[in-house]
Amino acid sequence: MSPLSITKSFLELNRLDFRLLSVIEILMAKHEFVPIEEIVRFTKYNTKKIEITLKRLRKMKLIYLAQKHYLGAALTFIGYDALGLKALVEKNVLAQLGPEIGAGKESNVHLGMNDHGEEFLIKIHRLGKLDFRATRRSRTFIAEKRHLSPLYQSRLSAEREYNALNALYTNGVSVPKPIAQNRHLIMMEIILGQDLFRIKRSDFGGEEEIAILFQNIVQEVKKCVQHGYIHGDLSEYNIRLNEDDFPVLIDWPQYLDTNEPRAVEILTRDCQNIMNFFEKKFMVKIHYEISEILKMLD
Ligand SMILES: Nc1ncnc2c1ncn2[C@@H]1O[C@H](COP(=O)(O)OP(=O)(O)O)[C@@H](O)[C@H]1O
Ligand SMILES: [Mg+2]
Repeated sequence: MSPLSITKSFLELNRLDFRLLSVIEILMAKHEFVPIEEIVRFTKYNTKKIEITLKRLRKMKLIYLAQKHYLGAALTFIGYDALGLKALVEKNVLAQLGPEIGAGKESNVHLGMNDHGEEFLIKIHRLGKLDFRATRRSRTFIAEKRHLSPLYQSRLSAEREYNALNALYTNGVSVPKPIAQNRHLIMMEIILGQDLFRIKRSDFGGEEEIAILFQNIVQEVKKCVQHGYIHGDLSEYNIRLNEDDFPVLIDWPQYLDTNEPRAVEILTRDCQNIMNFFEKKFMVKIHYEISEILKMLD
């Protein structure tokens, strides 16, 4: 999604628009599609006024409208973006949304700026596909929570990641400094440098430098374990090297507590991923016993 589509619609939104977006958000806890009559009951605005506004919001792709056995409304990811960005602006942590500078499997990553001109990274979590065409689910289906809506899943994912970043950063682990979080959005420090998977053999001197990098990564993984965290998706794609070539561990929503049943398995996989990467990329034999780190779990 282009940042323009978010910011442009942002400019055109008035108070009533935002009010309806947030009312829809609230009522989506109970309905996949919020019946218009519930919005009327909740806001006490008249039906005509609400319908006109909702049609405008739909045109701006901020909501879906569906005529099933009733006319209903649901937020799109762009509508959810607008609510999240507005909240960050009102908290005075965000002043401008910049271009997209990266995208992963489950997120869009944008540049952001505050009132002082400082730049940050905004990670927008996007889990699950919003597809309302084929679906027709009962209320109980939603209430069972086995099916979490994509917006809700994305928010949980952002909250989890933000909490992990806070705990790890506070404990001195090399992760981006978290700044703020709202809904499915996280603001954090930008790590200048590059993703580990992009580095080349020629970026490094001898085997000694490579061994140091590996040891630095192991050191950070150990610190995480000490504080009860296992990354859970550690690989060359979720490690950045900062400008001093020091590793920074990113992308935390799927982390695991060290006392969870699958801790040994997942920690082994994380370590193995890194060892495989070093062996393939740098053609060096990594002499490391994973048991050394696994015994920290006992
Ligand atoms: N703090 C950061 N500083 C710089 N680049 C980042 C930062 N966080 C993420 N990125 C970039 O955005 C990409 C996607 O972010 P990531 O957290 O890995 O999300 P995903 O779950 O979508 O993989 C990363 O691979 C990286 O290139
Ligand atoms: Mg990633």
